[in-house]
Amino acid sequence: MKPPLLDGTGIGKRFGGLRVLTDVGFTVGEGEIVALIGPNGAGKTTLFNLISGLLRPETGTIRIGDLPITALPPHRICRLGVGRTFQTPRPFLDLSVAENVRMAALFGRRPGPVLEELLELVELAGDMGLTARHLPVARRKLLELAMALALRPRIMLLDEILGGLTPTEVGRVTAILRRVRDEWGIALFWIDHVMWALMEVAERVIVLHHGELIAEGRPGSVARDPRVLEAYLGQPTGS
Ligand SMILES: Nc1ncnc2c1ncn2[C@@H]1O[C@H](COP(=O)(O)OP(=O)(O)OP(=O)(O)O)[C@@H](O)[C@H]1O
Ligand SMILES: [Mg+2]
Repeated sequence: MKPPLLDGTGIGKRFGGLRVLTDVGFTVGEGEIVALIGPNGAGKTTLFNLISGLLRPETGTIRIGDLPITALPPHRICRLGVGRTFQTPRPFLDLSVAENVRMAALFGRRPGPVLEELLELVELAGDMGLTARHLPVARRKLLELAMALALRPRIMLLDEILGGLTPTEVGRVTAILRRVRDEWGIALFWIDHVMWALMEVAERVIVLHHGELIAEGRPGSVARDPRVLEAYLGQPTGS
């Protein structure tokens, strides 16, 4: 059987005495949209840092297809097709939108998509010449998305791309991300706190709480899971 695009087993991570992830396992299939949710401090960003090679786990293995990547440096993992956006976007502020995307494309594993096509997809074609510093937050996030897409990833790790956006902007960015998957076939592993949007687009949801996987499944069933409700509401719901 073909292995999933991305797969982790038995992942454990500590920061000094603080155990941040314990025996976490996950998979993301080719072209799949998987949401990663959980209360603040659950360990979500840490898991992304482990996948992209910024940190190393103490236990467990992460694979792309058959290939273990746990010991590889970030640039190798990036070249294997793992793209990423950060909780705080960080484009080169003095460069234009187009220059930022061209710059990012230089680090790609193969020639990137055509600039115009890429900016069209993220709805920034009209802002090509604008300096990144002058972009409002939503469009800055779309620029960061375009920079990550310029590397032609097979999977994109999205860390709170919807954070700080208005409901209208959330709808727009979500629609763009759906097109990224539908038209470009890129899998999305997606952390966010904007539940209504995630629940609409995610095919599968993974829930972390205090560094442990407490639920996984379709959005509808995860949203009703008593352990998930308890994690978010902070009190038992069964009694
Ligand atoms: N470099 C670090 N050194 C020490 N502790 C850290 C480090 N990075 C994260 N932590 C701690 O690890 C835990 C998990 O943090 P993480 O950022 O992964 O959570 P998160 O699920 O992404 O939360 P949020 O939803 O608020 O972004 C937190 O208790 C955090 O304070
Ligand atoms: Mg985080």
